[in-house]
Amino acid sequence: MELDSVIPTSTGKPVHSSPASGAPAASKTVRALAVASLAANIGIVVTGGAVRLTASGLGCPEWPLCTPDSLTTTPEMGVHGIIEFGNRLLTFVLAAIAFAMVFSVWKARAERGDLFKLSVFLLAGIPAQALLGGITVWTGLNPWIVGGHFIVSMVLIVLATVLVNRAWLTPRQLASANGPLANRTLRPLLGALGVLSGLSVLLGVVVTGSGPHAGDHGAARNGLDPDLVTRIHVVPVYLLVFALIVALYLVYRHATDGRLRSSLLLLTAVVLVQAVIGYTQHFLHLPIVLVGLHMLGASLLTAAAAHVVFTGFSKKVPGIDAGAPAGGTASKGAASTGDASKTNVRR
Ligand code: HEM
Repeated sequence: MELDSVIPTSTGKPVHSSPASGAPAASKTVRALAVASLAANIGIVVTGGAVRLTASGLGCPEWPLCTPDSLTTTPEMGVHGIIEFGNRLLTFVLAAIAFAMVFSVWKARAERGDLFKLSVFLLAGIPAQALLGGITVWTGLNPWIVGGHFIVSMVLIVLATVLVNRAWLTPRQLASANGPLANRTLRPLLGALGVLSGLSVLLGVVVTGSGPHAGDHGAARNGLDPDLVTRIHVVPVYLLVFALIVALYLVYRHATDGRLRSSLLLLTAVVLVQAVIGYTQHFLHLPIVLVGLHMLGASLLTAAAAHVVFTGFSKKVPGIDAGAPAGGTASKGAASTGDASKTNVRR
């Protein structure tokens, strides 16, 4: 059995998961694999960025073979072949983690169908991304396909973030039948934060398609004016900053739950760092280290935004979250075992 039905508390007394909710908390293995999955999906964006930024995109000019006669890179392909083939090999690391994740939730798939489905989607994303990577090679690094490859990675990062969040739900949270943490005013704002984050990423990809880092010196560009698309790219970024300020104001004013406050502060910090990197790389004419950091920043921002939305729409927990009705649990199980301070609730 890979999922815990017992959670240790700071007092040493175990708290059992709610039997009536039918949803046991995830084991340490499941939680660790979920985090590993998120880290691996972010990691492969950075290594993929290294391929593009070192102009190694066609280091292996064929796919699925590296060259017409060899599955692996050959000495003739030089350092670009090593970089591109190395990135292809990382797919297997991602696949190993994804398989382990599916395996670890397999037995509990009836009770934790949420974890199981997310794990299967993440696993299915790997061949899809491998094929899309192959299409980028076949099309000689068409900037729209390269951009699509990046966007699919962002979708996988969102799924991996939801998986981590769901794997870290405590029995109390799983059993809660209350309404969401964010109030009516905040909920649309959180939705807007998600949409604006997505738009910032989408338009960033279009800027890259117009810029100098094509992945190979001979690769085509999308033909758009880089300065103009950069100006358009920063519009949702400004709106995102504005929406974050309003959300933080509302959260502090209504003393909304600390979980939501910390997730919003984390997103704000990532957005600000990402914006500083964005402007610096723009004014320094796109040095590859900064562009690589901007890609990492986009991945972290995607995860942070997904975390905010998940937190805001997650259910209030009696005894923990301000304003949660005490009776709002699906069962008397975990929530009725004592006061919140005694429970080792992970946030
Ligand atoms: C919320 C903040 C931001 C996000 C989420 C974001 C996201 C992105 C993404 C996803 C890319 C494409 C990466 C790739 O395809 O490899 C990108 C590229 C770019 N971004 Fe941003 N960005 C943000 C802020 C900014 C700001 C404030 C600027 C300032 C001008 C900026 C300038 C650029 C430039 C110049 C590129 C093209 C880099 C290249 O040619 O390789 N970004 N951004």
